[in-house]
Amino acid sequence: MFISRGRAWCVAIGLALLLSGCGGASKTGGGEAGKSGAAGDGKKWELLVGANLELSGDVAPWGEDSKQGMQLAVEELNAKADLPFSIKIFYEDNASNEAKSKDAIKKLIIQNEVNVVVGAVGSNYTMAAMEVAKDERIPMITHASTNVRITKEGGEYVSRICFHDDFQGTVMAKFALEDLKAKTASLVIQKGNAYSEGLIDSFKKAFVAGGGTLLEEEAYQKGDTDFQTLVTKLKSANPDVVWLPGYFNEVALIIKQARASGFQRPFLGGDGWDDPKLYALGGPTIKGNYLCNHFHPGDTNPKVQDFVKRYDAKFGEKPGAMAALGYDAIYCIADAAKRAGSAEAEALKNAINSLKSVETVCGTVTMGPDREVTKPAVILVTGEKDHEFFKRQ
Ligand code: PHE
Repeated sequence: MFISRGRAWCVAIGLALLLSGCGGASKTGGGEAGKSGAAGDGKKWELLVGANLELSGDVAPWGEDSKQGMQLAVEELNAKADLPFSIKIFYEDNASNEAKSKDAIKKLIIQNEVNVVVGAVGSNYTMAAMEVAKDERIPMITHASTNVRITKEGGEYVSRICFHDDFQGTVMAKFALEDLKAKTASLVIQKGNAYSEGLIDSFKKAFVAGGGTLLEEEAYQKGDTDFQTLVTKLKSANPDVVWLPGYFNEVALIIKQARASGFQRPFLGGDGWDDPKLYALGGPTIKGNYLCNHFHPGDTNPKVQDFVKRYDAKFGEKPGAMAALGYDAIYCIADAAKRAGSAEAEALKNAINSLKSVETVCGTVTMGPDREVTKPAVILVTGEKDHEFFKRQ
C-alpha cells in the first residue's frame, strides 16, 4: 500500500508525533482545510482540489483545455458570496504518461493535501492514477475518461461525470447502421490504449447485433506515422465504414494517408478525435468523417451558448469538449462539497456518489449506483477546419 499522508507527515516531524499517536494514519483528507469548519460561522472553509492533467506530452492540448475550463469554474464559484467554502485548485502535469500520472496524483495528495482529485483525461492515465486514489481513500472524479474499467475497478472513491465507451461505441455503431446504412465495417485499433480497445469491443457488439458484418481488424501503436500497410488492407477490404477509435495524432495521419491512396469511405471515431490538431495534421483530407462527442460549441442549447460566451470572453476562443467537461466537473465537485458540508474525504466521496440532477453544460449529472452518469452524446461531422454539429443522440 502506498504511504499515506498521515504517515508521511509523521515521518517528517518525527518521534514527537508518533508518541502522540499519529501512527494510525487517519485519512480524513484536507489537512487544515478540512478542519476549518462547517458553514455558518461566517468564515468560508477551503476546499482543496487537485487536477491531474495532460499538460505536456502528446495529448497536451486536452490538459490545457481542461485547465481553462476548470479555471473559469473556480473563478465563478469563488465569486459567489453564498458559497460556504472557497476553492483552491492545484494543477499537476502527468505528461501524457502512465507512471507520471501516478506521480502527479501522489504529489497532489501527499504534498498539496488535496481533498478531491479531478482528472485525468486519457483513460490509461486515469487508470494509473486511480490506484493511488483508491489506496489513499481520496475521492477522484474523471471529467473525460470513458473506458468502462475505470468505475468497475476503481472502487467507491473513483467516479466520472462523462458517458462511457459502451455507450459511445453503441451510439456510433447505430449511427453507421441506421444513418449511413452501412452493412460492413473494418476496425482499426490502437493496441495498448485501453480507450481504443474498449471502443473496439463495444462497437463490434452493437454493429453485429444490429445486423452488420465485420471485415478485417487492423492495429497500430501510439506514435506510429507510417500507415501504408494498414491503408492497403483497408482498400482491398473496401468496407462501408471504418471504425477508428483512436487519438487525434495518429487518426489524422491514418485518414490523410488513406485519402492519398484513394480510399474514400467514411471513418468513424469517438471523443479521442477531438482536437484542432486533427486538422493541423490532416489538412482538408479530414473532411466528411464522423465522431461522437460530449459537447459542441455550436449547440443551440442556451446553457451551452451561455458557457461559450463566458469562456470566449475570458480566453478569446471557443471551448471544446474538454474545457466544457473540466468546467462541469468543478461544478459537480462544488455541489458535492456543499452537501457534504466539509472537506472530509469520506463525506465528499459519499456526496459525489450521490450527485443528483446537477445541470451542467454537457447535460444533467445524476450519479448512478455504479458511479456512472447517463448523458447525451453529440455526433459531429468533420468539416474543412473544424467539426460541425450533426445531430444529438
Ligand atoms: N475519452 C477519452 C479517453 O478516455 C478522452 C477524451 C475525452 C478525449 C473527451 C477527448 C474528449 O481516453
